Amino acid sequence: MAALGRPRRSCLAVPGSSVKMLGKAQGLPADQVFLDLEDAVAPLAKPDARKNIVAVLNEGDWAGKTRVVRVNDLTTPWTYRDVIDVVEGAGANLDCVMLPKVQNASQVQWLDLTLTQLERTLGLEVGRIGIEAQIENAAGLVNVDEIAAASPRVETIIFGPADFMASINMRSLTVGALIPEYPGDPYHYILMRILMAARMHDKQAIDGPFLQIRDVDGFREVARRSAALGFDGKWVLHPAQIEAANEVYSPAQADYDHAELILDAYEHYTSEAGGRLGAVLLGDEMIDEASRKMALVIAAKGRAAGMTRTSSFTPPSQ
Ligand code: GLV
Ligand code: MG
Repeated sequence: MAALGRPRRSCLAVPGSSVKMLGKAQGLPADQVFLDLEDAVAPLAKPDARKNIVAVLNEGDWAGKTRVVRVNDLTTPWTYRDVIDVVEGAGANLDCVMLPKVQNASQVQWLDLTLTQLERTLGLEVGRIGIEAQIENAAGLVNVDEIAAASPRVETIIFGPADFMASINMRSLTVGALIPEYPGDPYHYILMRILMAARMHDKQAIDGPFLQIRDVDGFREVARRSAALGFDGKWVLHPAQIEAANEVYSPAQADYDHAELILDAYEHYTSEAGGRLGAVLLGDEMIDEASRKMALVIAAKGRAAGMTRTSSFTPPSQ
């Protein structure tokens, strides 16, 4: 598995217009925060929200969280001013800019070039600020491969289910929930399409929000579906969803232990001392090079989540 960078099991949305929530978010155990200038902020509140965000990025204590700002999309009049104000004001304390409703590679390239100009002018390291691309309409999904490849700054491809459902006229008002009239998972194709583009270009794939914030079981159910496919994390809108996301997007302890065991056993058996074997039995399970790769995925997720193993491999005595 490719190295996918900083963990993003839980990505906490915080409206840039709420000074109170911008303060509270700092102490919450999310892997990432994104400070929103887009849909959670009313048009008249956007100029003040930019100022609030610059202030909390510079003065807040984000305790190692990935710090992201979501700007407005490029069909609005606000995007350029969002990017300029936030990067000029707090570029050194910002990890990524999230671009919503991305439709094609040129929109990502616009952001890449704008960031490069700002970084050069401000004396910041060129290329350090990453880009998160939100897929929220048919054009974005059809062009997701070129979007993922549009700039080395792209770190994540995010599914924006609410806007996506609206843009394709999906007949449902409950984001992420299954639709009784449809005999399957209506999001499966979209999630898989995003995941393939992300994996092809070594980006993280992130699932979007679940709006019923008091229904944590419902959140878990939706999150488990994208986690099972291989998604790296999900947006969270409420403190109660953070713990659930951190748990669902980390491997179960037994799976993590098993993955580490396979890696150790495989290393031993392929070595000179272990007999230079390519395929061996570990308990009742046949393991080979492909098993090692699968185990690496689970082990990497567990290590990134800070898990510790509770068992170890002992080579059989000769
Ligand atoms: C998020 O932005 C969404 O539209 O779901
Ligand atoms: Mg959206």
